[in-house]
Amino acid sequence: MRNAYPVIPSSNHGFARPENDYLAAKYKDMRLSDKTAIITGGAKGIGKATAIRFVEEGAKIAIWDIDEKAGEEVVKELKAMDAKAHFYKVNTADITNVVSAAEQVYTDFGSIDILVNNAGITRDASLKKMSPQQWQQVIDVNLTGVFHCTKAVYPFMTANGFGRILNAASVVAHHGNFGQTNYVAAKAGVIGMTKVWAREFGRKGITVNAVAPGFIKTEMVETVPAKVMEQLMERTPVGRIGRVEDIANAYLFLASAEAAFITGTVLNVDGGLVL
Ligand SMILES: NC(=O)c1ccc[n+]([C@@H]2O[C@H](COP(=O)([O-])OP(=O)(O)OC[C@H]3O[C@@H](n4cnc5c(N)ncnc54)[C@H](O)[C@@H]3O)[C@@H](O)[C@H]2O)c1
Repeated sequence: MRNAYPVIPSSNHGFARPENDYLAAKYKDMRLSDKTAIITGGAKGIGKATAIRFVEEGAKIAIWDIDEKAGEEVVKELKAMDAKAHFYKVNTADITNVVSAAEQVYTDFGSIDILVNNAGITRDASLKKMSPQQWQQVIDVNLTGVFHCTKAVYPFMTANGFGRILNAASVVAHHGNFGQTNYVAAKAGVIGMTKVWAREFGRKGITVNAVAPGFIKTEMVETVPAKVMEQLMERTPVGRIGRVEDIANAYLFLASAEAAFITGTVLNVDGGLVL
């Protein structure tokens, strides 16, 4: 099992760990030992990479996604790593679905410690061509979905006196992007909600942060023309396109005990693209 970061000796980093539990013993001294994480949109791309990275650090994983086949495949991979993991078919745009899934995760795992609001879609078009349906679909998933999941999950974190809420923003929320009125509006809204919730939940032991990825190689950016991708790479100081692991590592840091004093921030993970 890989450890990308030095393990701080002598403590369990503030996380409770029942020593008799087989998994806890196996994942001893890992950064998310005994923590349960819900990862929305965890069936693919950044969400899947985050699930794998969290398991490498001892977490138990609930994948929430609309893609059942891909989600079950991820769970199989996580179980092959000896992790406790379940797939739940959840449409984050549907509040009833989200509330019952949160209750089910609590029943199955006994706690909910980390929520990664990662599920997202694009329906790009210039304002001239963007239909009200394209606007609404993106707002429903990328903005309202984040509201639904956080509203359903935070009471379980409050009861625990501990929580980490991690929201997927995007660098385009800071700078705009041609053809993304809906997406940019949603991601800018996510940054706003992150700051509100950081204020509302801080004294309950819950931190709330956003990660703003640059362009990361996943299905989501497959439609970006090759020429545009080349230009983006040229404009990126580190000289490459982002990898899903780059974002997974940022989520890991913000989920860990080391980030206990960080809340309400937006961490750009973009190789310097928007400097
Ligand atoms: N890839 C990038 O370059 C990039 C850049 C900035 C931000 N982001 C953000 O990161 C997140 C993940 O992006 P990705 O590139 O891994 O995307 P992806 O398309 O590879 O994966 C998204 C996942 O979300 C799931 N999903 C979609 N709608 C859902 C819904 N209503 N309910 C539950 N699950 C749903 C999909 O089935 C899929 O598994 C998104 O929020 C995206 O906006 C990505």
